[in-house]
Amino acid sequence: MSCHKKAYITTPIYYVNDIAHIGHAYTTIVADTIARYSRLIGLETYFLTGTDEHGQKIEHSAQARGKTPQAYADEISDTFKTLWDDFEISYDQFIRTTDTNHKIGVQKAFLKMKERGDIYKDVYKGHYCIPCETFFPKSQLVDDEFCPECGRATSVVEEESYFFRLSDYQDKLLAWYDENPDCILPRSKRNEVIRFVEGGLDDLSITRTSFDWGVKLPAELNDPKHVMYVWLDALMNYLTALGYGTDDEKMEYWPARVHLIGKDILRFHAIYWPAFLMSLEMPLPKHIAAHGWWTRDGAKMSKSKGNVVNPKEVADAYGLDNFRYFMLREVPFGGDGDFSQKALIDRINSDLGNDLGNLLNRLIGMSGKYFEGQVKSHKIKDYYQAELDEVNLSLTKLEPFIFEMQTNRYLEELWRPLSVANKAIDKYQPWTMMKEGREEEAMALNGLIAVILAKVSIMLYPVMPQITTKIATALGFEISHTSWNELIKGDALLENFVIEKIPPLFPRIEEPLLAHVEITKEEVKVKQEIKKEKESNKDEGIALIGIDQFFETSLKIGTVIEAQEVPKSKKLLLLQVDIGEEEPRQVVAGIKEWYSAESIVNTQVCVVANLKPAKLMGMKSEGMLLAAKDTSGLSLIRPEAPKSNGTGIG
Ligand code: ME8
Ligand code: MG
Repeated sequence: MSCHKKAYITTPIYYVNDIAHIGHAYTTIVADTIARYSRLIGLETYFLTGTDEHGQKIEHSAQARGKTPQAYADEISDTFKTLWDDFEISYDQFIRTTDTNHKIGVQKAFLKMKERGDIYKDVYKGHYCIPCETFFPKSQLVDDEFCPECGRATSVVEEESYFFRLSDYQDKLLAWYDENPDCILPRSKRNEVIRFVEGGLDDLSITRTSFDWGVKLPAELNDPKHVMYVWLDALMNYLTALGYGTDDEKMEYWPARVHLIGKDILRFHAIYWPAFLMSLEMPLPKHIAAHGWWTRDGAKMSKSKGNVVNPKEVADAYGLDNFRYFMLREVPFGGDGDFSQKALIDRINSDLGNDLGNLLNRLIGMSGKYFEGQVKSHKIKDYYQAELDEVNLSLTKLEPFIFEMQTNRYLEELWRPLSVANKAIDKYQPWTMMKEGREEEAMALNGLIAVILAKVSIMLYPVMPQITTKIATALGFEISHTSWNELIKGDALLENFVIEKIPPLFPRIEEPLLAHVEITKEEVKVKQEIKKEKESNKDEGIALIGIDQFFETSLKIGTVIEAQEVPKSKKLLLLQVDIGEEEPRQVVAGIKEWYSAESIVNTQVCVVANLKPAKLMGMKSEGMLLAAKDTSGLSLIRPEAPKSNGTGIG
């Protein structure tokens, strides 16, 4: 352990252009685990998460939904916060880049960098990818036009801009990587960063004039047409959350123990961020830890593919702690992981059900059958010191794993004591002992199992806070820094107690519990065909549009709350559709040949929400339903699972 008694732990602040999926949940859950662990061992811990709300991408998303950027950001930011609250994420602060103190802090930082001579004004000419909020030199573009990261078309920008002298920091950065072998985790990622920096660094454009939705430059500079580059704004959150530039109240938490991120944003955190900090004369973070990418049944998750796994749905179906365990156990930190219900079910049934849950059941069974529920510890050391030693040895190996984010190895090691316990029961056979009148030995074995379960519960608490709290209650103790001190740091055993019979914690799961998160082979085939078709269309020269053009259409989910036939019309139905606005939209739809009024009422549809109103047979129509028609008839396009009215599609 380092002597810094404080642990400041952060997640990325997530963009408000999307709702959370399991990738976001993973980062936040790893961070929550580290934070809980830090508190458990007595570090003063501050855990920060939040949302990143400025930039052109957000401005576009808001426009597409007919909202002001602020109203839109409020709404999506809230969905993140609500999810983390539902997940009992133990954050100390949820920062938003639209918070006033944040904006003040960013402006102060800008001024300071400028005073240091690290910022100058020039003209920027380059290619900008809006979805990635990143500039690319022409040499990096695909076919001279497309973004090397996401493949979408970039826009050419030529504008006045302030630049940060990143090129001046090349040597200082290289020295930092060199002197701090653990500054970037996993270590293999550090080499990638070093190679990139050795390749040379261009100065960084850090302001924009082509849009408005961002932090303004400090008033002192009297240059109102510029707003700050979102990444400068966003990265600064780690400092402004502690009061940088305003009240400085929590600055003693700096430097961060770890910035937890996904590998997609490593460059920003491992190059720009330390350079900004050096310019601000601030200490650098201890670790930047970049994890791998979650895919879904082998495919990249994206909204357009419609294969995004909703973390809330999974946690609700399978149990929050089980989901946490799965994510942290399934992948080596830094590696990519694949989400499938099968893998999740296997982990629950085998690791959790067989190894952990069963051990508790065996303990409850033995205690009840032989000792009227009583568990006593005083003779354990007389009979089972070897087992205790083995368990304690495993426990001492755990800490480095957690602070290197190797949660899978942490959990693997933590399962050894469980195996020691399960083996001890099989080997010493308490039922034989009881038959032979060796009651003291059997009682000691019972105590040993309880102590092992207690120790494992304490160390498993950061990963599975709810389940381990239940186990601890059954074992008559409380998980806290104090019990950690006694049972993990020290050599204490449990007080005598009467065990509480609790129902099995991990009932066996036989079948996937969620019908629609699994893609079938058939769906995969259809998807491949669609992809091929799209590609061939491209060859035939069907006009491609940019993302901006796509977002000009506002598509929304709505529920048909009223439907009636239009008299004298064979084709038309008159619908009232709730798309999350104050009043329902009236839509006249030509679908009567395929849908009756009764069959469509209370179902969800997709609505083009920003069409100019039209009149059909004298009736106003304020939108259009998405549908597909071929020789077999017409089908409405609907969300695969219910979505709240007004949810944007894109
Ligand atoms: O990049 N697998 O925000 P963002 C694993 N606002 N992790 C994933 C993932 C996946 N499939 N998808 C997303 C931004 N993540 C900036 C950050 S920080 C100063 C600014 C996680 O909403 C992962 O942590 O695009 C990734 O780094 C982050 O979400 C990106 O979130
Ligand atoms: Mg992203």
